[in-house]
Amino acid sequence: MTAQRWFFALWPDPAARDALAAARAGLIPPGARPTHPLDLHLTLRFLGELDDTGLASAEAAAGGVASGAVAVLLDRLGHFARSRVLWAGPSRPDPSLLALADQLEAGLQGAGLPPEPRPFRPHVTLARKVNRRPGPESPWPATIGWQATTFALAAGNPGATPRYTRRRQWPLGPPSG
Ligand code: 2AM
Repeated sequence: MTAQRWFFALWPDPAARDALAAARAGLIPPGARPTHPLDLHLTLRFLGELDDTGLASAEAAAGGVASGAVAVLLDRLGHFARSRVLWAGPSRPDPSLLALADQLEAGLQGAGLPPEPRPFRPHVTLARKVNRRPGPESPWPATIGWQATTFALAAGNPGATPRYTRRRQWPLGPPSG
């Protein structure tokens, strides 16, 4: 059995998920692998494999987050050549999104997990095995987005469809009471 890989992420609401699936439909070249609609997400922080202690640390870090709802606007297409990923992302990430990722990173490091060496590049993977960058003719509506009111700790299960499972979620918003 392959070990699970963990990550924190924002999941689109159903309207944004449907809009993403519709907008990408004409952009997926033959041979590419579209992301299952239920797997569409924006990763806040990749964690990889975790033992029980690491998982508890990740949950503690999430519990320490204090953030309002996060605005996500996926107004551009992009392509990671090395991983052959076609993605949609914010051309200017909202400060609330960057602040949430920063808080998680700080919390994880405070809980003893190793730092993420790579810069945060917010994106939603639309398809894999895409060899070419989309050209200027590729249509993309500049309006797809959602207000994230929760964030999730998710696990990836290689070979499963859909591939990702949200194991636990935390609210983003004003404290109650
Ligand atoms: P990707 O979609 O661009 O591949 C679960 O695998 C999530 O974590 C995906 O959003 C994936 O991004 C991201 N991810 C996978 N491996 C990663 C890594 N080594 N570093 C950062 N993010 C990673």
